Amino acid sequence: MKPILVANWKMQLSQAESVERLTALRLGVKDFGYAVHMVVCPSFTALERAKETLITSKIQLGAQDMFWAEQGAFTGEVSPTQLRELGVTHVILGHSERREFLGETDKMVAQKVESAMAHGLTPIVCVGETAHQRNDNQQESVIVQELERALQCTPPPSENQMLYVAYEPMWAIGTGEPASPAQAELMRQVIVRTLQEKFGAELAAHRCGVLYGGSVDAENISHYVRPDSYQGALVGGAGLKPETFLALLTSIKQQFS
Ligand code: 13P
Repeated sequence: MKPILVANWKMQLSQAESVERLTALRLGVKDFGYAVHMVVCPSFTALERAKETLITSKIQLGAQDMFWAEQGAFTGEVSPTQLRELGVTHVILGHSERREFLGETDKMVAQKVESAMAHGLTPIVCVGETAHQRNDNQQESVIVQELERALQCTPPPSENQMLYVAYEPMWAIGTGEPASPAQAELMRQVIVRTLQEKFGAELAAHRCGVLYGGSVDAENISHYVRPDSYQGALVGGAGLKPETFLALLTSIKQQFS
């Protein structure tokens, strides 16, 4: 399976800044080949111009969230069909910042994952324990429960469909203190087992991918994203600048070639 690098731009950039950085990225990946899936997730407000900027580029467009219904009286929400209209192919769902600051529940995440799959969007489902839960050694049960609940309405991915799970320990996000490679690998195995139980070994191996996120940078990415471990990374800070994004890509390419 092809590795993947996903940049979550969160609420960091204006529309003009997003276009500027995507233009630089587009040029930077020109000679890169198709060895790595590249996805950038700007703010909703930048998606339309991002789509124009990325036309014929190898970089795919992702959204940072989505509502589950297709249409209706849901003030402030954005639907899967509206995202498709803007050229979006991937969508981050259940990010811990949404769970923490906006009260997003497992049930809401489950509805979003089901809807994303039904509308042909590739979900990137985030799970991760808090520092407190890890101190209590509950990380495995927390992740299994979060993932089982997030996927409770989701049918098995069909041919040509992918489902990504991102393990993002909350204590590692934006702190400069990533999970150790051993901690991350253990959690990847827990996630793979949960996916195997849900979808069977074959689909878990070929239609599901596991990403690591949390203080990933160009120096440490090779500890996580490698042929015998994570299939990709979901990055915040390091994905914001074209030069660091390209350094991450280069590392992944080296690991997988
Ligand atoms: P950082 O890479 O900045 O730690 O953020 C990770 C993240 O939350 C990506 O979704």
